[in-house]
Amino acid sequence: MKITEVLLAEHFVFHNLFDSIEAGTGRMRSLAEVRSQASLLESMLKAHSDMEHEMLMDPLDHCLDQLGQRETFHHEHEAIERALAAVGKARTVAKARRLLLDAVLASRKHFDKEERVVFPLAERLLKGKTLLELGSRWIRRRQGAAR
Ligand SMILES: [Fe+2]
Ligand SMILES: [Fe+2]
Repeated sequence: MKITEVLLAEHFVFHNLFDSIEAGTGRMRSLAEVRSQASLLESMLKAHSDMEHEMLMDPLDHCLDQLGQRETFHHEHEAIERALAAVGKARTVAKARRLLLDAVLASRKHFDKEERVVFPLAERLLKGKTLLELGSRWIRRRQGAAR
């Protein structure tokens, strides 16, 4: 599989996770529940984004820079991380829920943009062979991480 297909499949999992968080947040009654959902999302996002950056964003760095998108992507990551970290400091369930939903919405927008801007750019600029090699590398790394 090409790296862009692997990433899109992983994005699909996240879109489902976003749906389930949005649907379930209203039922969360304790800070602990909201926090555990936030920290789960945080660690899943980190694992995804670290690899996405290393394998896809870095090779496209100068193009994203030319498009004026490189900094924007970076800022969006920071905003998502900040909202999730703030969940841990929120004093009320209502506030924690709102921050979690903010982070989910920001993540959705960020993922959509990656799908619209970054993946098509990668398909256009990187060779088919490179996309396939990166895809295999991703899968090998994931398998390594699971052991
Ligand atoms: Fe990202
Ligand atoms: Fe992504």
